[in-house]
Order: sequence, then structure tokens, then C-alpha cells
Amino acid sequence: MKATIFADRRFPIGEIDRRLYGSFVEHLGRSVYGGVYEPGHATADEDGFRTDVLELVKKLDVPVIRYPGGNFVSGYNWEDGTGKKEDRPVRLDLAWYSLESNQVGVGEFQKWTKKAGSDLMMAVNLGTRGVEDAKNLVEYCNFPGGTKYSEKRKADGYEEPFGIKYWCLGNEMDGPWQIGAKTAEEYGRLAAETAKVMKMVDPEIELVACGSSNSGMPTFGSWEETVLEHTYPYVDYLSLHSYYGNAAENTAEFLACSKDMDEFIKTVASICDFVQQKLHSDKVMKLSFDEWNVWFHSNEQDKKQEKWTFAPPLLEDVYTFEDALAVGCLLITLLKHADRVKMACLAQLVNVIAPIMTETGGRCWAQTIYYPFMHASAYARGTALQTNVDCGTYDAGRYGEMPYVESIVTADEEKREITVLAVNRSLTEDVEAEIDLGGFKEPKLVRHLVLENDDLKAVNTADAPNTVSPAERKAEGPVILAKHSWNVLVYTY
Ligand code: AHR
Repeated sequence: MKATIFADRRFPIGEIDRRLYGSFVEHLGRSVYGGVYEPGHATADEDGFRTDVLELVKKLDVPVIRYPGGNFVSGYNWEDGTGKKEDRPVRLDLAWYSLESNQVGVGEFQKWTKKAGSDLMMAVNLGTRGVEDAKNLVEYCNFPGGTKYSEKRKADGYEEPFGIKYWCLGNEMDGPWQIGAKTAEEYGRLAAETAKVMKMVDPEIELVACGSSNSGMPTFGSWEETVLEHTYPYVDYLSLHSYYGNAAENTAEFLACSKDMDEFIKTVASICDFVQQKLHSDKVMKLSFDEWNVWFHSNEQDKKQEKWTFAPPLLEDVYTFEDALAVGCLLITLLKHADRVKMACLAQLVNVIAPIMTETGGRCWAQTIYYPFMHASAYARGTALQTNVDCGTYDAGRYGEMPYVESIVTADEEKREITVLAVNRSLTEDVEAEIDLGGFKEPKLVRHLVLENDDLKAVNTADAPNTVSPAERKAEGPVILAKHSWNVLVYTY
């Protein structure tokens, strides 16, 4: 099969915000305890953080990490995670029916994000709490000193303010599963007042209002409209969340799930623009796709999980090779909306629906989905270019007719490098691709990285961590996108 991928330097989509390659750590399962933090572990540093995990995180070059939830945050008292560790209370985590030891709190976690080379994106509890507690948390984190909460931070051993710039105003507040779920009116008012007061404490912060939990929610659309009507002047981003799965065992359809993400982004952007016009505002609302991934493998297992234990193994999806291809298509889709989506978080980072897995007390390794994320984060930088693909199409079930090849071209003018990310969704045929790059002087292919495997269900495990890992093809001759493969083509110019 043949395909042509066209892009032109003169037709950009927009600058790629590095924060598109963010991720997420929630107090959930073994994400924090046994993942990021494990004081007795052979690789633990002086703060109890696993350095083997940190090394894998650093290779992903994650600019921003959302914390501490997720559903967890809607019942969270941030003060429980401050002060002396031995005095911290054990609490019921009602979101995940677990016990929370509070041995890691905002102070410890911001220290960890620094070690990981990331910025912290903090969420406030708008489920059981509100304006007062959010205000105090911003004061604890960001106010220099001389006040109750800034002095408490200093007494906890953090002389310098954390300078946390990005804040989420609650999490999935439209979801009936959410602790303290709200109607759009209730949430919109609360979020607006909380935002206003948080920015009084620190005018430099940027705020994310909750959009719908996913595009299938019954209130999707009207939720966004009402929430934005209340919050528009005070917030900087509206959130989107979406998870995909292949429970139906229909790989051809599953690999087309990026179409859903694409339509979701377009719809939410349109609603934002509608409200902007209605309010006669100059501000263009940015989008924060702060939860996205494949999530379905662990669903049945999680129903059997014993309640009220510390760090239970929850949401531990073991990702297959085809999941990595789906993640590749989703990354390409985010890049196609680089003009509007300015932050995004792969949910999550360690153990919980994550690219990185650990054994508590043992080894850690990269799952299949680690690699497309690492490649995009490393190579798809600079400007996203409008990309058109001329190729065959196939019947992708509920997603309709879909092209075999999904692709985006990016250009890093500083490094004089062009990157083509491409997934060949065909399950049977290789594609010979012509890459037509307009406006660049003699682009030269210098690298061709691939993720391919004969077995769509291949996984990485602690014993076989490299079953699915990238390989380097010779950067010469015709470009072949192997059947069901992820490809990174790097050109210099
Ligand atoms: O990422 C797992 C969960 O998915 C989060 O806690 C919640 O926000 C979403 O429903």
C-alpha cells in the first residue's frame, strides 16, 4: 500500500506547548506508595523516593505532573500531609476504598517533582471543601512568609515558597461517583469564587476549571457552557478527560479511538468560543486535556479488591503492543490541536494505568505505552504543522471510515529538525510512504525509529521488560511504515 504525508512550513497549526507531555500522580493504589515513594527500597534516596523510578520518569522528560487527584482530591484534607510524619493521621480514602497514610503530602511531592525535572500542577478539593481551604493551600505553597500558612510551611522545613503555578479547581465534579459531586450551577459558582480568592493570594497562578468527566456524560456540552459562564473571567483552562479500551477485542476499531478524542476537542473548543462571544470577552479559553490514556484491562480485577488496605494494587493495567499504537494515535491527535490544547496529562505515571510499573520492594520497568510518549516528548517539539495524509481507508466500526495512516509533522526551527510521527493502523499491510515536506531546504532523513511487534498482545513484564521496545531502522531508501507500527522519522534541514 502507498501513502503520501504532506506538510508545509508555511502552514503551521501552532506552537507545541511542552506541557502537552504532562502526566499525573494520584494517591491511588500503588502510584505513590510502592511506586514513587518507598523508603525501605534498595534504590530509595534520602527522602524515601525510588531512584530507579525517577530514572525512568526523567527519560520521559515530563514538564508538568498533576497531583494529588483525581477522585482522591475530592475528599482530601491537604493539611493531613503536612507536619511531622509520625503525627500524620491515617484516613479513609472514600474515592478508592483504601487507607491513606499521608506520609507523602504536598511538600514531599513538590520535592519529588523537582527531582524529576517537572513542575507540579496541584488540585484543590471542591468536593467536601471550598474557598477557605483552597485559599489556605495557596498561601501554604506560594506565599513567601510572615502569615499563618506560609510560616507553617517554613516550620515544616520548606523555607522557600514552592511557586506552584498550575492549579485544578477540583476534579470531575459532574460525576455521580465524585465525593461532593455538583450540578453545573453549583460547581460554576463555587469554582468562580474559589478561583477569584486563590488569585488574590497569588495573582501569578493559572487555573483549570472542570469540564465534563468525558464526552459521554449526559450533561456534556451544557456543563461546559454553564461552568464557563460563571468562571470565564477567572480561569485560564477548561479540562477534558477521556479513556479508551479494547474490551470488545476489535483492534481495527480500537486504533481509531483517536477520532473520538479529535471530535471531543473540537466540540469543547467550540463551546469555549461560543461562551467567549456571548460574554464579549477577548480571552481565548485554553484546553487542558489533563487525563487521557487507555484504561480497561484492570476493570474486572479491581472489582475483587479487598477494601480498606494501604496501597492496594488498583488500576494496574498491563499494556499490550496495540495499546501503544492507540496511545501513539492519541498523541498525534493532541498535537493536531496544539493551537488550543496547551496542557495534557497522560493518566497516570507510575503503577496506576501507567507507562512505568514497579514491584513493591523489587524491580521497575517500562510498559509498551512508555515508548510513543517518550518519543513524542523528545522529538515532537517546536511547531505542529498542518498535516494531510493521502492513503487508503478502512471500516473502523463505530468510528466509520478511517485512514490507515495517522500522522503529524512538527518542525523545531532552533534545532533545524523536522519530525514525522506516524502510525500505520493496517493490521495486514506495510505502507510505503512518500513524505512531502514543503518550504524546507533539502530535508534529509537522519533517523527512523519504530515500535513494531508481530504480536498485538505482546506486553513487557519485570522478567521480560524489553519484549516491546523501539528499534532503529536504516534512514535510507523508501520509507516503509510496517503493518501495525509506530514510527518516528527525523529530518534535518
Ligand atoms: O485516573 C483515574 C481516575 O479517572 C481519576 O481519579 C478520575 O479523575 C478519573 O475518573
